[in-house]
Amino acid sequence: MLRCPLQLVRLRLPVRQLSDLTTKFTGLGSFSNLNYDQLQSSLRTDSSQCEQFWKLIGEQQLNWMQPFHTVSDCDLKSAKIAWYLGGKLNASANCIDRHLATRADQTALIWEQDEPGNQVYITYKQLHAEVCRIASLLLQSGLQAGDTAVLYMPTGPPVVYCMLACARIGVAHSVVFAGFSAEALAARIQDVGAKVVITTDQAIRGGKTVELKRTVDAAVKSCPMVERVFVSTRTGASVPMGSIDVPLEKNAAACSADCAAEPMDSEQPLFVLYTSGSTGKPKGLVHSTAGYLVYTSLTHQHVFDYRPGQDIFGCVADVGWITGHSYVVYGPLANGGTTLLFESTPAYPDVGRYWETAERLGLTHIYLSPTYDLSRLRVLGCVGEPLNHEAWEWYHRWVGGGHRDIADTWWQTETGGVCIAPRPSAEGAPILPAMPMRPFYGLEPVLMDPATGAEVTESPAEGHLCMRRPWPGMARSIWGDHKRFAETYYSQFPGLYFTGDGASRDAQGFLHITGRVDDVINVTGHRLGTAEIEDALDSHPAVSETAVIGYPHKLKGEAVYAFVILKDGVSIDRLGDLRRELKRRVRDRIAAYAVPEKLLFTDGLPKTRSGKIMRRILKRIAAEDYDSIGDISTLADPSVVEALKQHHDLYQ
Ligand code: WT7
Repeated sequence: MLRCPLQLVRLRLPVRQLSDLTTKFTGLGSFSNLNYDQLQSSLRTDSSQCEQFWKLIGEQQLNWMQPFHTVSDCDLKSAKIAWYLGGKLNASANCIDRHLATRADQTALIWEQDEPGNQVYITYKQLHAEVCRIASLLLQSGLQAGDTAVLYMPTGPPVVYCMLACARIGVAHSVVFAGFSAEALAARIQDVGAKVVITTDQAIRGGKTVELKRTVDAAVKSCPMVERVFVSTRTGASVPMGSIDVPLEKNAAACSADCAAEPMDSEQPLFVLYTSGSTGKPKGLVHSTAGYLVYTSLTHQHVFDYRPGQDIFGCVADVGWITGHSYVVYGPLANGGTTLLFESTPAYPDVGRYWETAERLGLTHIYLSPTYDLSRLRVLGCVGEPLNHEAWEWYHRWVGGGHRDIADTWWQTETGGVCIAPRPSAEGAPILPAMPMRPFYGLEPVLMDPATGAEVTESPAEGHLCMRRPWPGMARSIWGDHKRFAETYYSQFPGLYFTGDGASRDAQGFLHITGRVDDVINVTGHRLGTAEIEDALDSHPAVSETAVIGYPHKLKGEAVYAFVILKDGVSIDRLGDLRRELKRRVRDRIAAYAVPEKLLFTDGLPKTRSGKIMRRILKRIAAEDYDSIGDISTLADPSVVEALKQHHDLYQ
């Protein structure tokens, strides 16, 4: 049974000697020839070894325009994180220019368009020219190093060009997933203070067109700081063009295909990426240039055992999420790899799409979030749908067939890259199904007891997952709110990074993730804060109070369940309309994937005497797990629970 959000499926597993795996760090000074356990224990017990390790890795992974003088300057107690100080480099030059001598004609990007069979190949030489032209255009438009630009574009070559063009001239990009509503987009443009927005006329996904430019038009109405909107052409449909709008490709074509890569400080923000937290508005996590690139390139190489020039890496994530940033764009390109840009959906034109694509393009790796499609595949396989027979075979052979081929990887927007994964040390040890198992080199996960605040040292055990040692790829701040950054991640367990997840450690010390311990939920791999959805629902004039929780859903992983108390005097005849209006409101304020799957009107919510909603109880009700509701005597009104159970049953 597969239950983890992100997994690597290794297609066409190469025959490798076990000895290869023990000598991955050949040429790395005293770390050469150490196996995983030896390396980890030397890094764990000796800080100067750790420093030396990341120094050699930093020098080895990247091209520096000016060498760094200090490996790290971190103090997790005060949320201070800095790596490779004194160094200067450019991320775009590291992802493109340094490969030109040896890989100019190698494919850098394979664009798998929405309609199967329309793949487009882009070489490193072409990538260089396109990125330079757009970088030149951005410079001409007045953008300069230190500015920010928002990208609201579908997964495809143009968004990669724009990300790297921004990096080339020192502009931090903030990619906003092209499924977000105009309101959500506007909030992000305002928060990050973007002068420039880059979008696409229309996106095409799953055979449907999505009006991106029109959404941007609606968003920028409330964003006076936006001076320019560049519009990339995907469908060529005529979209309204106003005075600040400029066609991207037409203007870039007239610009120079040579644009110098600006030397940037190691700690210069490379990008800002918004993600949901348990409270408040989404947070713009800030990632650095050097540390992020060191870490994503290293993890891409080791966690996925990636061999540039031979392997075709198929991470099917949208570029709008961290997985797209780290393992579609920066990791693979920094390593001189060939990377897939997947424009479609897992179920278009049918649920065999991933496997059909993998076969047609000859992918060697597929990195995906299987909660949705694989469960579908399993069902279809069982009922023997002939159309999907091939897909089922793929699944059976590559996914179900041998657990050695699957790597469950744990990480977060905040961590920049994979932190826990079975891969770096597969030295003959079995890879256990559905658990990420081992920390990446130099990382030190710890389990903390939330009640006592003390570390849980024995095994097996369960606790809140924290990280003791800093690593180069971790987020540096929340854009414009370092205090919130420190409070969210570094205050609960002083001196440690708190992930927000729970984990268990088995007797052998292997880690298994048990899920969020806060009010963050994960719907088809998209992270949502329940408070965001509550805010959207609460804004409706008929609503008095709401409580939103996530509940297990067999296709989506988790789905949204909203409990809604209406204001006095709202007519019961309006319930049908209200249900539609409330769903609409969530769609308009956030995105379609945030819309509650279930919405229950109720007269009361389970609250403590001090007025705190007991979400634990709501979760049990939603999951119909009535037996473990537990003690309800501390509730202000225990009868609420019985009423909710009955309504819930009725609602089914
Ligand atoms: C949350 C982070 C995976 C990076 C992209 C998503 C959950 C992540 C696993 C895993 C179980 C996982 C956690 C985490 N998660 N990986 N292998 N097994 N849960 O990044 O959107 O920031 O979400 O995804 O709950 O906190 P994200």
